[in-house]
Amino acid sequence: MPKPSDFAQANIDAVVDQLTTDEAILLTAGVGFWHTHGVPRLGVPPIKVSDGPNGIRGNFFFMGTPAKCLPSATALGATFDPELLEKVGEHLLAPEAKLRSASVALAPTCNIQRNPLGGRSFESFSEDPYLNGIIASAYVNGLQRGGIGACIKHFTCNDKENDRMGSDSILSDRALREIYLLPFMLAQKHAKPWAFMTAYNRINGTHCSENTYLLQSILRKEWGFEGLVMSDWFGVYSIDHALNAGLDLEMPGTNKWRTLDLMNRSVGSRKITVRTIKERARKVLELTQKCAQGAPQVLDGDGSEKTRESDEDKALMRSVAAASIVLLKNEDNILPLKVDSGKKTKVAIVGGNAKAVVLSGGGSASLKPSYFISPYDGIVNALPEGTEVLYAEGARAYMQLPTLEYDLVTPDGKPGWIGSWYSHTSDDSMEPISQPFKEQLVDETRCFISVDSPKGLTKRYTLRLKGQLKPADEDREFEFGLCSAGRAKLFVDGKLVVDNWTRQTRGESFFGSGSTEERGRTRIAAKHSPEIFVEYCNVRAPADGDEDEALMDSNPGLRLGGVVVKDEDEMMAEAVKLAGEADVCVCVVGLNSDWETEGYDRTTLALPQRTDELVEKVLKANPNAVVVTESGSAITMPWADTAKAIVHSWYLGNATGDAIADVLFGKVNPSGRLSMSFPKRIEDLATYGHFTSEHGKIRYGEDLYVGYKHHHHRKIAPLFAFGHGLSYTTFSYTNLKLSKPSFADNDVTVTASVSVTNTGSVSGSEVVQLYVTLPSGSDGGLTHPPLQLRAFSKVRDLGPGETRAVELSLDKYTVSYWEERIGRWVVEKGDYLIRVGPSSDALLLEDKLTLDKSFEWNGL
Ligand code: BGC
Repeated sequence: MPKPSDFAQANIDAVVDQLTTDEAILLTAGVGFWHTHGVPRLGVPPIKVSDGPNGIRGNFFFMGTPAKCLPSATALGATFDPELLEKVGEHLLAPEAKLRSASVALAPTCNIQRNPLGGRSFESFSEDPYLNGIIASAYVNGLQRGGIGACIKHFTCNDKENDRMGSDSILSDRALREIYLLPFMLAQKHAKPWAFMTAYNRINGTHCSENTYLLQSILRKEWGFEGLVMSDWFGVYSIDHALNAGLDLEMPGTNKWRTLDLMNRSVGSRKITVRTIKERARKVLELTQKCAQGAPQVLDGDGSEKTRESDEDKALMRSVAAASIVLLKNEDNILPLKVDSGKKTKVAIVGGNAKAVVLSGGGSASLKPSYFISPYDGIVNALPEGTEVLYAEGARAYMQLPTLEYDLVTPDGKPGWIGSWYSHTSDDSMEPISQPFKEQLVDETRCFISVDSPKGLTKRYTLRLKGQLKPADEDREFEFGLCSAGRAKLFVDGKLVVDNWTRQTRGESFFGSGSTEERGRTRIAAKHSPEIFVEYCNVRAPADGDEDEALMDSNPGLRLGGVVVKDEDEMMAEAVKLAGEADVCVCVVGLNSDWETEGYDRTTLALPQRTDELVEKVLKANPNAVVVTESGSAITMPWADTAKAIVHSWYLGNATGDAIADVLFGKVNPSGRLSMSFPKRIEDLATYGHFTSEHGKIRYGEDLYVGYKHHHHRKIAPLFAFGHGLSYTTFSYTNLKLSKPSFADNDVTVTASVSVTNTGSVSGSEVVQLYVTLPSGSDGGLTHPPLQLRAFSKVRDLGPGETRAVELSLDKYTVSYWEERIGRWVVEKGDYLIRVGPSSDALLLEDKLTLDKSFEWNGL
């Protein structure tokens, strides 16, 4: 009996030859959300792809398979540790993909934080293209060594979310090459991803999915890419333009543009040729073959999704998370915290994020975590017995009311509620039939049904969810929030509390398909466990300005949240009081996946609502309070001068609380370095004033001066600079030496060596960073950003007093710039300034590198 993985040995030429035109057409688009077409007649199996990038979610947005959630990409970038990233790829991500029966991960994301307000900033490794590309290469290498393909995304300039399908990124060829394409170029040079995903947006007038310059001239011809190019989901906008430009696979399926009818008509009208269709289909076959070779067990398996956690994996998750934490400030050596087991210490843990489930950014990167340790739990677990722990939220930090999965129970005591699905009397009717089609336990209250409703329901359907809210000791006023893509209403003990059914307001939830969150309050008596009932239908309610009652075909969903109503001033006063009473105070604040998400951009760098006020007051009450910030991207900290210790933890995935505690209590000596600049004010951003899409155009006016390059060049001091991060020990740098440049094969190689000494009293790891300044050149003086990261090395576990010699390899990438007039990279002879140090704003040593030869190059 032949197996699907036998395709590993297939002769692709012969298969292409035998494909009928219709079979070839089908291959160029997906099936459902996550699969490719198979051609059973020719032994071609379908393959499954899965998001990415901070884990492998699997097929389901609704009732997903519990999975590992890794730190956000900005956190992984902050490790500055490619070796660790390879391990993550091979030992965490590839096995996760296999458990989810996926052959290709839709990851990594390698866009650039042109502006940290970009909703998906958390999803890319760094504002610096070199760090971004080197970390991406390691990620891809690890994953692919584990037999799973990487689909690097979004190619390119999807640097913001609002208007992402229509906006046109207008930028110079130089900025395109040196900043936005460089991460992809480095990944292609060092790791060869099996697939590329095009970005939604246009670049200089042409959508990426139909951009011949991008897909043919650069990717295939210059970089020699031989893999597959797929669209982002619903990011195809034409038949002939996309096919001719080189877009191999339209996702998702089932064929939206590339239907048999439209494709055959396009052949008939000579817009496209069968030859091109077959070229595109060949790429799908080649990718399928790589998958069959890389992880045959996935193709031969039953397609099911599983979860597996081992102690070893958990330990690695925890150490990766801890390695990415950045110690921003540590005056008076407040950290690591010393909590004596003998004394009865009072520890106050305050802040809106201390107990919140915050583990990743939102959108397609999000997944259902297999486990989660909150900062509160992590800290409490690390405290010696007998410690008195005080807690207060202090200030609310969420945008939508927190979901209620941990607060609801079914009649038989299971966590969650019971969902009953109903077909309607016909596809177009609004009337559910009386017998449920299916009943199931639902253990989430953010139900992004997407395409995961039970098969066989009528097009319009109803979902009824019923559970009970756990009782509390006291009487309480409870506020519920209901938002839906479709219409929904909430009843508590039979009383209508939220009506998002009769009319609604369009909002940004559920990838832009959902309503705003409608809120309603009700009183709940002490010890009472009220019945919670939500009625949902996948048809929009009329809204002011949009009376359209459309069927939600790909993004239906609903979200129920809720909290006990409290007086804000009292909440704040309580936290401040506890902070003042405590011997040790940790204040955990930040953002979450509603503030930072795919689908829309942030509007401010400030922490939510009254969070800054809370931190200020806590610091006043307890000047030694340690502030822990959680966000995937830069935030402002108006209280930073008064805080003695600030720890930035990004989004850290499952192991969040344990990793934070490891750093706070000194079990791990912090070694993360900022992968992006943290500005003092929003006005200090390089893109301030030209970040948004205006009449569809986004002008990249800052050109090459992205992130720290802007801060440095304009002498606008950031709050914390790119590359910054402290340790519980100190390091000194001596002996910077550069080898004599050696020229060969249109390349140049130089080795920079430097000695690093641990001058403190505990062992620690340092990140040596090398920045270059290019000569301004002979031809009229071309401007280059004066500071560009071009090499780094993580020096691990340097013992007290120990000195280690570190070598950094430099090559043509270190010294090249893009020459727009000739369309080539150029290395000029002249003097290059090489600076080395622990951060972009602390470059301790410098030397001059003289190149006595110029050359030009193309390719990689
Ligand atoms: C995102 C991609 C993702 C895809 C599939 C899109 O909305 O932009 O990054 O891989 O959905 O979920």
